[in-house]
Amino acid sequence: MRKLISAGTLALALVAALPGHLTAQNTMQEKSLYDRLGGKPAITAVVDEFVARVAADKRINGQFANTDIPRLKMLLVEQICAGTGGPCRYTGRDMKSAHAHLKISQADFAALVEDLTRTLDKFKVPAKEQNELIAVLAPMKSDIVTVK
Ligand code: HEM
Repeated sequence: MRKLISAGTLALALVAALPGHLTAQNTMQEKSLYDRLGGKPAITAVVDEFVARVAADKRINGQFANTDIPRLKMLLVEQICAGTGGPCRYTGRDMKSAHAHLKISQADFAALVEDLTRTLDKFKVPAKEQNELIAVLAPMKSDIVTVK
């Protein structure tokens, strides 16, 4: 009798736990990259630091000599916000049109990604989120790099 009760209790407990468990699994979706990065304030801070690093980077800063930097920063925030699942709309040019006149090389691109990675390290963005952000930006490379 004792055994029967405990088996019944166990079965009851399982039945009770099952729907809850399933519900938890179904709703336990990972937060967007936008949220995990810390939303608009964190993305704005990262873009500020990133652009400052690019401006100080002699390998590529010449390319930005005629650029409206506040506008570039605003567009980068929009682009990253939109691309990571945030509530933004990117209002700038497409990547091909924006970079067509700049003769950007593979090395230029690598230098910029290095500046971004250093920035993300400074803000202690975990490797997983860094990789996800790079994965959002990397496919743009073929539209941006136009010279060997
Ligand atoms: C994944 C990498 C990159 C992303 C996501 C990116 C993103 C952007 C965005 C959103 C704009 C503004 C577009 C607009 O003006 O409407 C822009 C402009 C610009 N980008 Fe990039 N960019 C990347 C790589 C590079 C690289 C490697 C360089 C050069 C080393 C570069 C140089 C510039 C310059 C100079 C402008 C301003 C162009 C102008 O004012 O006419 N970008 N970029």
